[in-house]
Amino acid sequence: MRLSLFWLSLAGAVSAALPSINVTGNAFLNSETGERFYIRGVDYQPGGSSNLTDPLGDVESCSRDIPYFQELGLNTIRVYSVDNTLDHSECMQKLDDAGIYLILDVTTPGASISRSNPNCSYNADFLQSIFATVDAFADYDNVLGFFAGNEVVNDESVLDTAPYIKATVRDLKKYIKARNYRSIPVGYSAADVSSVRLDLAHYLNCGNDSTARVDMLGVNDYSWCGHSSFTQSGYSQKVKSYTGYSAPIFLSEYGCNTQGTREFSEVASIYSTQMSSVFSGGLVYEYSQEADNYGLVEINGDSVTTLDDFNNLKDMLNSTTDPTGDGGYVTTNTASSCPTGWDFDINVPDTPSDASSLFEKGAGEGSGFDAETQESCDGSFDYSDVSSSEVVSSSTKTSASSTKTSATTSSSTSSASQTSSSSKGEAAQLSVGSLSSVLVLVSVLFL
Ligand SMILES: *[C@@H]1O[C@H](CO)[C@@H](O)[C@H](O)[C@H]1NC(C)=O
Ligand SMILES: *[C@@H]1O[C@H](CO)[C@@H](O)[C@H](O)[C@H]1NC(C)=O
Ligand SMILES: *[C@@H]1O[C@H](CO)[C@@H](O)[C@H](O)[C@H]1NC(C)=O
Ligand SMILES: *[C@@H]1O[C@H](CO)[C@@H](O)[C@H](O)[C@H]1NC(C)=O
Ligand SMILES: *[C@@H]1O[C@H](CO)[C@@H](O)[C@H](O)[C@H]1NC(C)=O
Repeated sequence: MRLSLFWLSLAGAVSAALPSINVTGNAFLNSETGERFYIRGVDYQPGGSSNLTDPLGDVESCSRDIPYFQELGLNTIRVYSVDNTLDHSECMQKLDDAGIYLILDVTTPGASISRSNPNCSYNADFLQSIFATVDAFADYDNVLGFFAGNEVVNDESVLDTAPYIKATVRDLKKYIKARNYRSIPVGYSAADVSSVRLDLAHYLNCGNDSTARVDMLGVNDYSWCGHSSFTQSGYSQKVKSYTGYSAPIFLSEYGCNTQGTREFSEVASIYSTQMSSVFSGGLVYEYSQEADNYGLVEINGDSVTTLDDFNNLKDMLNSTTDPTGDGGYVTTNTASSCPTGWDFDINVPDTPSDASSLFEKGAGEGSGFDAETQESCDGSFDYSDVSSSEVVSSSTKTSASSTKTSATTSSSTSSASQTSSSSKGEAAQLSVGSLSSVLVLVSVLFL
């Protein structure tokens, strides 16, 4: 009896309804039907950017919210940081059952590229942390893609962090390949800094090393405010300037709130042929009402109250169908030319040599929100001859200042330790891969 229940829960954990999404030319395609896939999404960050939580490691919160994602007609959510020590299988399965994909930022405030000292923050401990997050999610077919960073460049003065963003992209792609995972797209979510917007986009997609180029580009854009239009908002100009880009582009945050209640008239443009040859949909910032007033719903414990913005978005999404046919995507665009005239070395830094064993042996266990890697630049830790439990403690050995973190979430360490100390059952330690092997074993015993 116990074993057959075990069997059922395992079968639930490994079955997947959604086909993976692949990148073909500058579009996302459904890998089963070949149809164009447009992101209809929201950014999911309950607790806000200053309260570090992992909404996918908490079945109560994802179960509370998924019906609202469905009511909006969404096919994608973006999550800004997760605790890679938690078990995400139930929430990922519930999302899958609801037809929803995930775009995941693999960094956390403590483990991300630092604007103040990017070279120091790009180290083996950092890679160990983000690779452990990849390990925790790579087996779910409804992972649409990973972001290697969010708004690291938030001002022209920190443009010199860009080579480290590319290095992170490259290492994630190398790791996914080395570990034989599905070819999951890796990209970056860019802040809307008008002076560097285009140069940075092209830099991230330039050069002969295809592994160091982004598979997809998210652009955070708040330019369509209130009752605007395709031309008045500047969207038309952006379509023009990104034309020719060889990777899919989408709005990783949109929804200007400066004009009060949002009517979301931009939705009709986003999913139209005005934009579909260059853009592949977008994600509204953000699901829950927080201090900065971008919420679609108000969360109070177990209860969710929809706001006017929710109903407006729902109506707009429902009355706006995707373009028919292929939306004009192209497979013939080539990689961008690298910018000239930047006043720093634009070469992508080499992978730290003490990270090489991570590619061969895997990252081992993550340290969740306790990972503080931004100052681990002394190269003191040798990952080549340690067990995974030692790897865990090493990632927490340094304490980093969180003053200039790159994640949207600005670190609040008290809540972080609270979250990562929550229950870690035995099941949480099993990856889906090992669950499959157990399933095979159980089936041999029973059949
Ligand atoms: C993506 O999937 C479609 C449908 O199966 C297929 O035609 C296309 O070749 C795939 N693209 C890549 C890059 O694998
Ligand atoms: C952080 O977010 C969680 C989940 O929404 C909430 O339960 C908690 O009260 C929040 N903590 C603070 C300090 O805001
Ligand atoms: C970056 O850090 C590495 C390792 O600490 C060091 O070897 C290298 O010289 C540094 N590069 C720059 C440009 O500071
Ligand atoms: C990139 O490839 C082109 C064409 O193959 C070649 O001319 C160029 O020198 C290469 N650039 C670098 C930096 O390797
Ligand atoms: C609009 O809602 C109806 C009823 O729920 C649904 O059948 C239809 O597919 C929705 N249309 C879009 C574009 O989401």
